[in-house]
Amino acid sequence: MDPIVEMLILDMREIFGKDHKRIDHALAVLGYANHIRSVEGGDPLVIQAAAVLHDIGIQEAEQKHGSSAGRYQEIEGPPIAERVLRHRGVDEDRIVHVCRIVANHHSDRDIDTLEFQVLWDADWLVNWPEMLPDKSGADLKARIDRIFKTNTGRETALRLFVGS
Ligand SMILES: [Fe+2]
Repeated sequence: MDPIVEMLILDMREIFGKDHKRIDHALAVLGYANHIRSVEGGDPLVIQAAAVLHDIGIQEAEQKHGSSAGRYQEIEGPPIAERVLRHRGVDEDRIVHVCRIVANHHSDRDIDTLEFQVLWDADWLVNWPEMLPDKSGADLKARIDRIFKTNTGRETALRLFVGS
């Protein structure tokens, strides 16, 4: 793995502290993001940095706004991600790209880069079991088709959640 990504993982662990659930979530998203990227392509550093840092504002959101709702994370996350990325020497273009993903990944806005789509799908693969409503196979397939943005994300979701 890129040594910068290893540093970002350390930073993420330090920021989340004892919050193992969030650390595990970020690492699980990183795992799926790497898998999707290995097929779909995309800038590895942007994708991996976005995976590690995508929920990095969640504690600030809870402390400042008393809520981990997506819109508060989208306010609090980017400045933290920017600080961490700059500290680790990531170039400005990638910082802007990663911060845009961090800022928008709770809504369906502006998912217009491959890197954003890969992160989006990886996050959904991890979150799906928690958000999964009682749906029959056909409904599930339709939802998966609608939500996932990449072929690899869609295929992985079908394999994991529909068994096909
Ligand atoms: Fe997430």
